[in-house]
Amino acid sequence: MVLVFVTGNGHKFQEASCLFSQMGIDLEQADLGYPEVQADSLEEVAEFGIAWCKEKLKKPCFIEDAGIFIDVLNGFPGPYSKYVFQRIGNQGILKLLDDKMNRQATFRSVIALQDGLSTHLFIGETKGRIAHEAMGTGGFGYDPIFIPEKNDRTFAQMGMEEKNQLSHRGKSLYKLVNHFKERK
Ligand code: IMP
Repeated sequence: MVLVFVTGNGHKFQEASCLFSQMGIDLEQADLGYPEVQADSLEEVAEFGIAWCKEKLKKPCFIEDAGIFIDVLNGFPGPYSKYVFQRIGNQGILKLLDDKMNRQATFRSVIALQDGLSTHLFIGETKGRIAHEAMGTGGFGYDPIFIPEKNDRTFAQMGMEEKNQLSHRGKSLYKLVNHFKERK
């Protein structure tokens, strides 16, 4: 079986391919540059994007939208994570939390699948904390400053398989894989 992952993010595609190949499903990347609306929830962003992809691609496909929600900042940057990363990056986030004791944060991932008939959402969440400094060279985005719970290393200090076992995206992808398994 071949499934299309619409994304321009090579890291996301590699993470998904790594997990899918273990399940015997081939993944194809389509970099369509779908429009990402600015909305108050990842679910809205994903639903808007997949409706656009459905029209454009006209075959079963999925997209994924992620964000980091920091407790002491009332969930900021959340759905605005991409914009905030581009503007202030990890050093900016570390500065915002400079004097904060509470460093709890949650990474969320929302996958929207269009299977030709309807749209399905699959959600993955990983709780953790923001490190005091950036650590590690792997992964992308906020990986060097996010430490998943029950761990003392950031996502950037882990290999892809280990990150997939713990991450928000690993969890939403796993639900997507199970959806196909159940339909077999
Ligand atoms: P988007 O899902 O591509 O819109 O991602 C929003 C922002 O979060 C971007 O700045 C990404 O680099 C970042 N991001 C998304 N997923 C991850 C992840 O798994 N680890 C670290 N940063 C991520």
